[in-house]
Amino acid sequence: MCKILLSQPDITDLERKAVLEVLKTPCLSLGSKVKEFEKEIARYAGTKYAVVVNSGTAALHLIIRALDIRDNDEVITTPFSFISSSNCILFERAKSVFVDIDPQSLNINTSKIEKKISRRTKAILAVDVFGYPADWENLEKIAKKHNIYLIEDSAEALGSEYLPPHQNFGGGGKGKKCGSFGNASIFSFFPNKQITTAGEGGVVLTDNKEIADFCYSARNQGRRQDNNKWLEHICLGYNYRMPEVCAAMGIAQLKRIDEILGKRSRVASVYNEKLKDIKEIELPNNTSSWFVYVIRLNEKYEQEDRDRIIREMRERGIECSNYFYSIHLQPYYRERFGFKKGDFPICEKVSQKTIALPFYNNLQEEQIDYIVETLKKIIKQ
Ligand SMILES: Cc1ncc(COP(=O)(O)O)c(C=O)c1O
Repeated sequence: MCKILLSQPDITDLERKAVLEVLKTPCLSLGSKVKEFEKEIARYAGTKYAVVVNSGTAALHLIIRALDIRDNDEVITTPFSFISSSNCILFERAKSVFVDIDPQSLNINTSKIEKKISRRTKAILAVDVFGYPADWENLEKIAKKHNIYLIEDSAEALGSEYLPPHQNFGGGGKGKKCGSFGNASIFSFFPNKQITTAGEGGVVLTDNKEIADFCYSARNQGRRQDNNKWLEHICLGYNYRMPEVCAAMGIAQLKRIDEILGKRSRVASVYNEKLKDIKEIELPNNTSSWFVYVIRLNEKYEQEDRDRIIREMRERGIECSNYFYSIHLQPYYRERFGFKKGDFPICEKVSQKTIALPFYNNLQEEQIDYIVETLKKIIKQ
């Protein structure tokens, strides 16, 4: 059996053709494709503005700069995420103040946030982990009450919709799109995401013109937008530009978004059905946009058991991963800030038990059968 990868992009002739068309033109940067992609992605998320950049991390960094979050400011965030949702705060010498997660949604626990708000708190940065929306109703209430900014890291949740829990009873259903909450939000287009822009990419989404204008300028070395004075720089900027081929690919992927989300939902349903009787594991939350398929081992298992299962799955040609490692326990965070085991117990407990199984649009049922059978055998040993 050949190796089953953890994730894979879904690229068709539509995307290949779109990229080749750009290569036939002389304009490979700062052209019409970037503008068109911005229009389409903003329309999809339901925001007024979109600023595409070359990664989700760059998008987060621009938001931190746009909100003037800086030296010794505090930003409340989750320790259960990919490292950049906290690193972007450190980029500007501000402080990440972690709040433990809700054991069910795996998102920041909003009932624990207010205790952590201080005079220095400038913002809350919440993440829609694994594509499952954070508790935006409460997050908005808290941000408004304390007059602080709200940032949505929706890197993993393009296409997810949020309804407040009393209307929703879970993560699914028709609601407001993720990527449209707070003062500004982001998507990532890394190849494991719902859509990709030829490898790397990201976007800032916002309804706020000032934030958008800052981001348009700062991603392009601090130039004025639509400025013909190429060598005039009005703020400290970066080269965070997205190339035209990437934008062209993003446009093509976005045209197929319903098909893509449909395929992902089918793969998740097949997994749900085939795994439902394994009592040693807990299945992931249902969501309207699947990013990954992450199961959790139950109480009686330790981290070593989980690591053994992952190792043995890999030995049998199935790529699995422990997803996520608690941010506060990353070596850099331990060394610099003195975090230790036990600081955020729910996050730590969850992150010791997770196994991300192979998950992508075109994963075949026979492959899922092989993954499930192998998992059953290994768990039983
Ligand atoms: C929650 C979260 N935030 C931020 C990022 C960063 O995105 P990128 O890899 O495009 O920089 C990711 C990417 O995996 C992510 O999962």
